[in-house]
Parts: sequence; C-alpha cells; structure tokens
Amino acid sequence: MNQPKSGAPCVEALLDLYAHDAVLESPLVSHLCGKETGICSGHEELRPFFEMLRERKPPVRQHYRTNYFTDGKTMIWEYPRETPKGEQMDFVEAMEINDDGLIQRHNVYWGWFGVGVLQRDEYRKEDKSRGEKSQKEKRDEKQSKEIAGYTYGTSEVGKSPVSLKELEELKQTVTLTEEDVHQLRLAGGVLEGQTGAIVDTWREVIGKTPHLAYYFTDPHGKPDENYKASVKERFKQWVLDVCRRPYNQDWLDYQHEIGLRHTHLKKNVTEKAETPPYIPLRYLLAFTAVINDTIKPFLAKRGSTPEEVEAMHRAWCKAVILHVTLWTRPYVAESEW
Ligand code: HEM
Repeated sequence: MNQPKSGAPCVEALLDLYAHDAVLESPLVSHLCGKETGICSGHEELRPFFEMLRERKPPVRQHYRTNYFTDGKTMIWEYPRETPKGEQMDFVEAMEINDDGLIQRHNVYWGWFGVGVLQRDEYRKEDKSRGEKSQKEKRDEKQSKEIAGYTYGTSEVGKSPVSLKELEELKQTVTLTEEDVHQLRLAGGVLEGQTGAIVDTWREVIGKTPHLAYYFTDPHGKPDENYKASVKERFKQWVLDVCRRPYNQDWLDYQHEIGLRHTHLKKNVTEKAETPPYIPLRYLLAFTAVINDTIKPFLAKRGSTPEEVEAMHRAWCKAVILHVTLWTRPYVAESEW
C-alpha cells in the first residue's frame, strides 16, 4: 500500500484495493460515522471513513499477525491481542475478493481489547488524553476563529426570528432528507481544499457582470480589494459550512446574520466598508443558479462516479436553496414571509 511520508495510509491508494460497490462492515463505522448499521457501501462512503481512520488511528491499532486462510475467494486472518511487542487491538477480518482481484466485502469482527478502545473513545483523542479533539478538528476550529468577521456560534449573532419548527417545515419543503445530509458530508470531503478556487469561479462571474460587480466597489467606482479579500474568507468557510454544519439554533441564527449582511441593515458593517448599501433581493435569488451550476465540476474532481457526483450535487442544490430562502427573511415583511 502507498504510504505518504507521515506513515499514514494514502486514502486513494487504499480505495484502489476496493471494488466501486464494495461493502465494509465494522463497529467503527457506527462509532465514527454515526451510521447505526455499521456498514459503508461504495467508494463514496468508504472515502470519508478511511479519511477519519487516517486522522484518528490510536497507537494500539497495530497489524501484527502470523498467518491467514483462504480458498482463493474468501480470506480470513486474525490480529491477536498478544504480540511480541505487547497488546494490540484484536480482530478477525474476513474479505471476499472479486474476479478482478478487488475487495468486494470486508468484515471486521472485534475482540474485547478493541471494544475497550471504542468504549474509552480513543479514536477521538489525541495523545490518549480523554476528551481532546482530533488535530484536524482543532485545526478547523482554529482556522474558522481566525476568519475576520466570522461570528458563527458567538454571542455577537442575534437570534433568528425563524423558529426551529419553521426550519423543519422548510427542510421538508425543499425535500432535504437524511440521505441528502449524508451526501453533503461526503461533498465536504470532496470540496475541502478547493474552496478558494470555488469562490474565485463565482467571483469571476460577478466580475464579468457589471451590475453585480458594482456591489463590491468603493465610492469612486473602483473594486474595494480589501473588502473583497476579507469577505472571500467567510465565503470559503461557508462552502464547508453548507456541507458540515448541523441544522441547529446556531446555524439558524447565522443564516439570519448572512441575510442581514446582504441588506442595508448590515452590509459593509463587518468590514466598515463604503460599498453600495445592499444587494437587491432579485440578484440574491437569481445568483443561486450560478452557485449551484458551477459547483458540479468541483464535486467531480476527486474521482467520484457520475452517480456519486449527482447525489452530492442534488443535496448541495437543496441545501443552497434552503440557505437563500432563510436569507430572504430580513428583506420581507414578517406578515408576508
Ligand atoms: C445564492 C447567492 C449567494 C450566496 C450563496 C452568497 C453567499 C455569501 C456569503 C456566504 C457571504 C459571507 C457571509 C458572512 O459574512 O459570513 C456573502 C457576503 C456577501 N455577498 Fe453574497 N451570496 C449570494 C449572492 C450575492 C450577490 C448576487 C451579490 C452581489 C453581487 C453578493 C454580494 C455579497 C457581498 C457584497 C457580501 C459582503 C457583505 C458584507 O458587507 O458583509 N452576494 N455572500
């Protein structure tokens, strides 16, 4: 297996060993991905699972074994608890290999020592210190805190006038399902690392459209580059938030804040800028077409099948419509909204 310098397995190389519709079953799937069934099906579900494993593997997950059994189709082997170097996580693994020599089915049966690792939640810890977040979670949190004016989840954001019940009804109205939420999480893994390029694509469309570019200009009619650069960082974060943030009160409140930042009530306030005072509602709505159309090539850039891209894209489009619908709230009289 290909290994980058860090010694962590390369996710894409690992995926190459699995058939496109391979099925992997392990209690760890339920533990890390929250999937009750404990089953990952296909590359689109395996990829984020392997990525989490790469980040979180505890040191007692070693790979000491002596032999294996196979009839040429099915392979079974044991990672025993006792090893010459001490105890390791104990499993029996079974794999079915298809006619192309790829793993079709992979089941991991856990021993008691391994179960203890799950009970102590050691896959979610750094350096064995209980309750610590993974390095990646800490990095993400730190990075988002460093974004100027990004006040998600803070007391600086007022409460949304929209209730959680109304949000639930809106989710039903755009037909956003649990499966869509799952597809959004997968999309997050695909879009991460591409957010700068994505926002540049949207900026290019705005730049070529004078009546839109106008909203980023200073009183002399020149593009306000500081304003553009500062807003861009929050826009990049938004791409990941669309994919990853749970729909709770903090989320609802920040949607209202973003809506306000497009209106005369809060546009320019964060950057103390002097650009035009609001984005007309008609452009906010119409630009959804660009946001949804242009994301597709980015969803396709990480080797997903056309069906996988389609499912992620469908979920993305529903989510964006949900966001923009909530952003219309400060534009519209309460009695009419
Ligand atoms: C579906 C359409 C749109 C989406 C998804 C969107 C998304 C966003 C996001 C995520 C932010 C940053 C929010 C934050 O501060 O955390 C933002 C701010 C901004 N957007 Fe939009 N936007 C849309 C339409 C437009 C249009 C059509 C324009 C006008 C050309 C525009 C101009 C701006 C400006 C100027 C800001 C900065 C506002 C401020 O002063 O804080 N947006 N937008």
